[in-house]
Amino acid sequence: MTTYKNNLLRSARAFSLALLLGTAPMAWADNNPQFSVRHLASEQNLIAVQDAAKYLLLPVQDNAPEAKVYLIGSDNHYIREGINVRLARERVDYYVPLDLSAAVDGDITVEVQGLPADALCWKKMKLSDTFDTKNREKFRPLYHHTPVYGWMNDPNGMFYLDGTWHLYFQHNPYGSTWGNMTWGHSTSTDLVHWTYQGTPILPDALGTIFSGSAVVDTDNTAGFGAGAVVAFYTSAKPSPWGDSQSQSLAYSTDGGRTFTKYADNPILTSQKRDFRDPKVFWYAPGRHWVMILAAGQEMEIYSSRNLKEWKYESSFGRNQGAHGGVWECPDLFELPVEGTREKRWVLICNINPGGPFGGNAAQYFVGTFNGKKFTNESPTRTKWMDWGKDHYATVTFSNAPDGRVIALGWMSNWQYQGVLPTLQYRGANTIARDLSLYRQDGELLLRCAPSPEMEAARADTRNFPSFRVSDSYEIPSLLEDNTGAYEIELELKNSGSERIILTLSNAKGEKVHLHYDVARHQFVMERSESGLTDFSPEFPAMTVAPAADTDHIRLRLFVDRSSIEAFGDGGKFVMTNCVFPSEPYNTLTFETWRGSFSVKTMKVHRIR
Ligand code: FRU
Repeated sequence: MTTYKNNLLRSARAFSLALLLGTAPMAWADNNPQFSVRHLASEQNLIAVQDAAKYLLLPVQDNAPEAKVYLIGSDNHYIREGINVRLARERVDYYVPLDLSAAVDGDITVEVQGLPADALCWKKMKLSDTFDTKNREKFRPLYHHTPVYGWMNDPNGMFYLDGTWHLYFQHNPYGSTWGNMTWGHSTSTDLVHWTYQGTPILPDALGTIFSGSAVVDTDNTAGFGAGAVVAFYTSAKPSPWGDSQSQSLAYSTDGGRTFTKYADNPILTSQKRDFRDPKVFWYAPGRHWVMILAAGQEMEIYSSRNLKEWKYESSFGRNQGAHGGVWECPDLFELPVEGTREKRWVLICNINPGGPFGGNAAQYFVGTFNGKKFTNESPTRTKWMDWGKDHYATVTFSNAPDGRVIALGWMSNWQYQGVLPTLQYRGANTIARDLSLYRQDGELLLRCAPSPEMEAARADTRNFPSFRVSDSYEIPSLLEDNTGAYEIELELKNSGSERIILTLSNAKGEKVHLHYDVARHQFVMERSESGLTDFSPEFPAMTVAPAADTDHIRLRLFVDRSSIEAFGDGGKFVMTNCVFPSEPYNTLTFETWRGSFSVKTMKVHRIR
């Protein structure tokens, strides 16, 4: 039987002959002997690859329209379908690798739809056995997780097992803009430095792989084996009639490195359009599993004994909290109340838009949970987990040791994530935060403290003698050889100052203003002069957090090249904002408005 593939090969041979004879048909655009390109009608193209290397490196132009890439096997069946890639038309911004390891005897066909024959891409694509992921970005953080290349949004499926922290993430391995949602995977043994482990959960016929969670099934309740890691994600299926979302399961018997998709996926369906981001946990008192997921403007709660069959129990959200945007990425966990023997349940609800400073944010509710239904204890108040613009999709690790509840967020905002001034990668996570509850003025609030692992990551510490600020006081050099990755730890005592002002700046005059408004009990960060800001009108911003104690101030500032996370009073407030200075901030200026204050402790920790 003459197959389409055979035809291609025959044409390729004819092409070589034509070259020999000096009569190359114009349609063959490249001159790489390992592959031949044929341009068909309507921007359809076929690339016949012979002696395939490991990768076809695809040149990407970040702002080009998406073309569709397909991998065709020797029997003319698709191996991978419809990968959206912004293939270069006029300029190459970076390359992404297309894995060709499915090639049989070195032969494989790549089909590209939606790319004209005169696109630069045809001249620039190349075969290679390696893909260089060496960092090329000056804004890439040093002690925050980032994808080695490509796009990242939400953290997914985080769990701890046998000394290793696992972090999966919403990943586009084919570009630094959102698309082709896949679970990327990174691991860490110190909760600070991460190693990329590849893409264990790829899109399939049920859809792309949206956010979700993972559990360690110690007692083999699902039958995949004791200790199997079971991941839950949303299969998101776009179609000409609109999108649909359903929940799917995949399990791993090698500790989260590789996953097998469950044969009976999807395990949970709905006719609601927004139905996603399952977070699963074990409810010990009822000896059953619980799934909480976002469904429109509510969170739905399901229960299960075997992780496969789920029973609807209740919904939460009507007339509760902020509803200025879609409810996404929920979490539900129990926490001790500091200084008491009480415990409460916390329901996290990420919302986009509708955050206090525009775009996304994470709100939370504190209350009780009986294994089936969550009840909010203070329905009249909206509580925010972080008071910056760049904190979203925050969820907690499963199976964390010592009863710890540790959260990690995506450090960005959907308002401008797609145009951030990086190209090799886009997206970073916050540092890990240990959660607990404290009571203030009768209200239970979440404390998000930097995880103690951040202290272990200190390389060295510069200790400053205490000083008094009655006008202004400048520390012109925070660190020698400042790489832009450090923590500033401060303890201040107010003596009648009405505004305690701290300015972080660099020699280029770029600065971030921070201040405590004493009368209003507020902490403020302002980034409109922080460096590069004009890539989006939504980026310059002033963010404000409640700061109960403006008399005795404790503040920790985690600065990491393109982000600042401010933790007040041991995490009673947190504010996370990205910044893009052209060189590291190395000067800290203290000023007071009326009155004075003293700086009791000032330490600058360089972080590895
Ligand atoms: C939140 C979100 C999730 C969804 C994912 C898709 O940022 O919209 O609700 O699962 O991103 O990438």
